[in-house]
Amino acid sequence: MSAASVPGPEAVSSWVADAVLAPSMHNAQPWLFRYDRIQGVLTLLLDASRTMPRTDPAARGLHVGCGAALFNLRVAAAAAGWEARVSVRPAGFAPELLAAVTFAPATGDAAGDGLAELHPAIARRHTSRAPFSERPVPGELLDRLRQAALAEGGALDVADDWRGHTLTDLAWDAEQEEKLSPEALEEIAHWTSERARDAPEGIPAYARGPRRHGGRALVREFPGAEAAGGAGEGADPGTAVFEWSPCLAVLGTRRDEPADWVRAGQAMERVLLRATLDGLSTSLNSQALEHPDLRWLLRDPLSGAAYPQMLIRLGYGPEAPATPRRPVSEVLVVD
Ligand SMILES: Cc1cc2nc3c(=O)[nH]c(=O)nc-3n(C[C@H](O)[C@H](O)[C@H](O)COP(=O)(O)O)c2cc1C
Repeated sequence: MSAASVPGPEAVSSWVADAVLAPSMHNAQPWLFRYDRIQGVLTLLLDASRTMPRTDPAARGLHVGCGAALFNLRVAAAAAGWEARVSVRPAGFAPELLAAVTFAPATGDAAGDGLAELHPAIARRHTSRAPFSERPVPGELLDRLRQAALAEGGALDVADDWRGHTLTDLAWDAEQEEKLSPEALEEIAHWTSERARDAPEGIPAYARGPRRHGGRALVREFPGAEAAGGAGEGADPGTAVFEWSPCLAVLGTRRDEPADWVRAGQAMERVLLRATLDGLSTSLNSQALEHPDLRWLLRDPLSGAAYPQMLIRLGYGPEAPATPRRPVSEVLVVD
């Protein structure tokens, strides 16, 4: 392999800087990257020290976050004129090796896959836990989001009003179960308490939303943060009326193996970046997905996607704040 045919470590490092802006469960940032600069192979590994045994026992959510990071990486490489060729969970490697990526100068065909145009959205996308307006999301934009999911092997089912109520109720049920589980509360507190205020990971108080006192949109209250005294003086986000007809969509996949979770993460991030470019605010909720009995009920029986992987709220709302990230030097090793 000649040095000119593989990207240099500086380029890869800047792509990883974009990759880590991806969403991850509780902002745990469960990824590690390793770049072999001679072979030009970048591997993505699951950081097993960041698992959540109580709320994400199979590490499904963490795989989804890593898939989102992988998608950002592909977008960043495309914007720099490279095509990232991804092998998800290549056979014969340890289960924590989620993907191996090689790079080739992008040809006309690769440029046509629409990845590079998503690049400006990477830094603009943030999870919003604020109320959105009642302005409906145009059908044309929803069609584009469905296409974005399909392009990555996922399916995006946008709920009608009636089903939207069911989805909200399921998330609410999950939150009540969460409040009754000291183990779940402890895990949530670990990632949201004031201890995490200056940490480069976790969800700081400023990024948590107000509690709902009206409307039907679902926003996680992170009860564990309160239990730990984590809301902190002056940090209480208060209460607000959320939208009465939230635009909710379930992102699903046909199968439910770890490789599908990584694909789901890529599909989710493609949807989120497309939505961001189209001026939408986005919000994620996995509460019902964290309970096998409730997860099954999220499924739309008419959908081709048997396995729900994420609940996404879309709409028009205020700009959401950025959350911290670990520096690239902590997550990328160059050999
Ligand atoms: C698998 C997964 C599950 C998530 N679940 C929730 C959730 O239930 N509620 C929530 O408010 N945010 C959820 N998020 C969003 C993360 O908390 C968010 O991505 C993280 O705090 C980083 O913030 P950012 O998205 O603004 O960059 C989830 C994200 C992922 C990838």
